[in-house]
Amino acid sequence: MEIREIRENKTEFMDLLLIGDEEETMINRCLDRSTLFVVYDSGKPVSLCAVIKIDSDTIEIKNLATFPEYQNKGYATKLLNFVFDKYKKAYNTVILGTGENEKTLNFYKKRGFIQTRRVKNFFTDNYSHPIFENGKQLVDMIYLKKIIKK
Ligand SMILES: CC(C)(COP(=O)(O)OP(=O)(O)OC[C@H]1O[C@@H](n2cnc3c(N)ncnc32)[C@H](O)[C@@H]1OP(=O)(O)O)[C@@H](O)C(=O)NCCC(=O)NCCS
Repeated sequence: MEIREIRENKTEFMDLLLIGDEEETMINRCLDRSTLFVVYDSGKPVSLCAVIKIDSDTIEIKNLATFPEYQNKGYATKLLNFVFDKYKKAYNTVILGTGENEKTLNFYKKRGFIQTRRVKNFFTDNYSHPIFENGKQLVDMIYLKKIIKK
């Protein structure tokens, strides 16, 4: 397993990006500004994390995804730890926004994130079609944060 940092030809990873965010126009809104961190397993990209800089203090994770057949092997956790480690020297805080999906929220909370705010109707206002996860329509965006500086 290795993690590579990708700054060019990021659309090559669109299949993985679409697992984390099913609408390509939303992905493209910040892909230029994103740095991608990609896990390769036997030379194949299997898991991805997209990061943007918000200001001198804060980075935001815009996407986190693992191909279904590679899930639950620890790749996303390794990517998160890699990103925390890389940015903790210069940045204090990691933020991210996600749908109100219990499974996803628990995944992040177990990894040290706390819930900070809710953006009402984010998914219904910004996506061209209703988004469902675990049979439930996503409506609000939930923001979480984690302090990474030592
Ligand atoms: C969430 C996700 C990135 C985890 O990737 P992964 O490589 O399987 O993660 P790890 O192996 O490091 O950890 C597995 C954990 O993910 C949890 N998980 C499995 N499927 C999940 C899902 N659909 N959503 C959230 N968490 C999930 C497992 O319960 C496990 O949690 P635990 O370790 O706290 O018990 C992956 O399930 C995924 O791509 N989901 C679809 C996209 C998504 O929801 N992205 C997050 C919002 S941007």
